[in-house]
Parts: sequence; C-alpha cells; structure tokens
Amino acid sequence: MIQKPRGTIDILPDESPVWRFIEETSRAVAARYGYGEIRFPTFESTELFNRGVGDNTDVVQKEMYTFSDREDRSLTLRPEGTACVARSVIENSLYAETMPLRLFYLTSCFRYEKPQAGRSREFYQFGAELFGAASAAADVEIISLAGAVIREIGITNVLLHINTIGCVKCRPGYHSALKEYFNKNIEKLCDTCRGRLESNPLRILDCKNRECGIIAEDAPRTIDFLCGECGDHFEVLQKSLTGIGINYTVNTKIVRGLDYYSRTVFEFISNDIGAQSTICGGGRYDGLIEAVGGPPTAGIGFAMGITRLIMALKNQNAKKINKDRPILYIASLGAAASVYATVLAEKLRSLGIYAECDIIGRSLKAQMKYADKTGTEFTLILGDSEIESGKAQLKNMSNSSQTTVDLNDTDALRHSLGVC
Ligand code: HAM
Repeated sequence: MIQKPRGTIDILPDESPVWRFIEETSRAVAARYGYGEIRFPTFESTELFNRGVGDNTDVVQKEMYTFSDREDRSLTLRPEGTACVARSVIENSLYAETMPLRLFYLTSCFRYEKPQAGRSREFYQFGAELFGAASAAADVEIISLAGAVIREIGITNVLLHINTIGCVKCRPGYHSALKEYFNKNIEKLCDTCRGRLESNPLRILDCKNRECGIIAEDAPRTIDFLCGECGDHFEVLQKSLTGIGINYTVNTKIVRGLDYYSRTVFEFISNDIGAQSTICGGGRYDGLIEAVGGPPTAGIGFAMGITRLIMALKNQNAKKINKDRPILYIASLGAAASVYATVLAEKLRSLGIYAECDIIGRSLKAQMKYADKTGTEFTLILGDSEIESGKAQLKNMSNSSQTTVDLNDTDALRHSLGVC
C-alpha cells in the first residue's frame, strides 16, 4: 500500500468543518481589521529564503525541501509565508501604494522536522503582515488581530508572551555579550551552533539541541542591551497593550527562530496542547523588504499553525462545530418514485438545499437506516400514491413529528424544512 509521506496529513470530510470554521473565522476577523487576502506560489527561488529567513536559521540549514528543476534552478517549497509576501510586495510594487499595507494569507508550509503532535512536515498557517508602519501602534494592531482570531475561534487558556530583540544599532553589543558567554561553553555546543557563534550567536538561543538549550538558559538577555529607541518602543508597546486591555507577560527567552526579526517579537502560548504549545508566533521585521531587494519598508506580522489551533480547540471542547449533514433525504419505493426523487432532489439542490436520494438501489428500510446514520434532519418517503397525489409526509428525524407537504410547492417545502 502506498502511504502518505511521513509528517503529512489527510483532512477527511468529518474533519473539514473545523478547518473551514477556522479559515472562515480568521478571514472574517482579518477583513474587519482591513487586511486583504494574498496568495503566492507553493515554491519560490531558494535564494529568497536564504536571504529572507536567514542562512543561519534551523529552517534554512536543516528543514527546507529544496530541489532543482529541469533547468537546474534551485527551488524550495515555502517553509513559511512572510518571505513570500515580502517578495510579492516588491515584485508587484505594492510598497508604492498607499501605506499602511495590510495583507493576510491561509497557506500550507513545508519543513523537514521531526513529526510529533502539533508538528508536521506539511502544515497550515493563517498569517497576517502589516507594512509601512514602524510605530508601536502597528505592533498593537497586529497583536490585537492575532488575539481576536484566537478568541473568536473559541480558544481560551492562552498567554501572550512578548519580548524585544533590539535593532541593527543595539544588536552588535548584544552579540558580543552572547559570543563571550557561549565561548565559555563552546565544547558543550552542537556543531551547528559552534558555526553560528561567529556569524549569528542569537540563533544558538533557539537551537533545538537539548545541551544547547540548557546552556542558553543563562545567556545574557536582549532586554539589557537595548538602545534608547528600542527601549522607548518596547515601553510604548507595553503601555498601549495595557491600555487596551490585552494581557501579556514579558518573556526574555523569546527570540524567534527566523533571522528577519527586529525589536518586537511575540508568541501566543497554549497551556492545553503539550510540547508544541506555540499556537502563534510573530514579530517586527523592518529590514526584510530591503534584504530581499526592495526599498526600506517597516513590517510586522504573525502566523498561527492551524493544526495547533484545532488541538487547542479540541482539548477545551470550547465549541461545537457543525458538521455537514443532509437537510432532506428523499426515500423512494419503486422505479417511478426513484426517478421522481431524483428530479425533486435536483430541484431542491438548485434552490440551495442539501437534499439526497437513493442512488444505490437500497430497500426502503435500508434507505431509512442510511438517512438516520447520516444525521439527516428530515425525510420524505415517496411511492406511487405520493406521486399521484402530489402530497407526501415530511418526517422531522429529531422528534419523529410528521407534516403533509405539497411536492409541487417548493416554496412551502422550503418553509417546512426551515430553509427560507
Ligand atoms: P513560525 O514561528 O516558524 O513563524 O511559525 C508560526 C506558527 O506556525 C507556529 O507558532 C506554529 O503554530 C506553526 N508551525 C510552525 N512550524 C510548524 C510545524 N512544523 N507543524 C505545525 N505547525 C507549525 C513563522 O512562520 C513566521 N513567518 C511568522 C511571522 C509572520 N512572523 C512575522 N510575520
């Protein structure tokens, strides 16, 4: 038997309603904040992620699905959406439009990671990116949007963690302090991190190797090396979050695993879903557009993993998501009634009603059993006499009550089905 590749998922019809609910909710909230939907290719030039996400990151060094096409161009399945959005903003000159520019996406991403609960190799994100606003007010907007999506999906028991990782001005001082600290423990670092010590010691802080993680615990904190502007920005952010009633904790351990971040970084962490508890991660990336070939443009955004949102939702049983089920099953007895049922079902579907009839040639008893199993709300039983009289009994499956309906009066039938 051919099986799906490790770390991928099938989303079956029974599971689709919760996916759709999350997609629809996030789309609706994004629209309310003025974010327009952007879609981009599944694969991009590898160079985009090398420059955007950063050569020194785990994502680029260990996790990308990279391949050469027939013309020997190096392409990569997108490991995340932000670099793709940045490329599209530049290529389509969106930076020249009225700022701020607000974009969102629902997309699949690909990372070669060790699969576990909440971590897969193909996964799905809802993300939002805000360009052209460098203020703390923009940080507040994007954090508020993420919080609203999580809240409206119905997930509780989530904490917002924020931190700042400084900017190009203050980071060199912080890097020196990190280098000094890690140099003292160099023999305990993994090979990758030893390589990172010179080029980008910040990345050691989010290495997934256990030993590196233990050493990183006591590393110097970004917050102690901020320049005046970064310090002010972080202070305004905190005051504004408090001002609009968004609860948060400052967590100096959050540095995020991608190189494009500067200043504000944040994560929404769930207490309900185990080790892979970050349901949403984001931050400011004022240098990204320039790094991938555009003009200096401020940016901030986030992405949330849809599988993790679903896990958090399930664990709390916070919302009952309606599954698709037929409104009406038209059972039939005999060849003429079967044709009549087909025509009636077709007519009702064209009016937007989810109606079904038998297409397997089941006995009447088996048809009723099927209707019951699929959770149908109403059933009609048609035989020769019903066709002749044009009247039939509509049965409400939840309370077994019956009403006589006129088969030729679709308006009245709709009314009886509660579809107006
Ligand atoms: P990220 O932290 O790599 O950031 O991913 C964002 C979210 O995607 C995570 O918090 C998690 O919920 C989900 N996620 C990540 N990897 C996996 C995986 N292997 N399996 C399942 N879910 C996963 C980014 O991707 C940035 N582009 C976010 C961003 C947007 N920053 C600024 N704008």
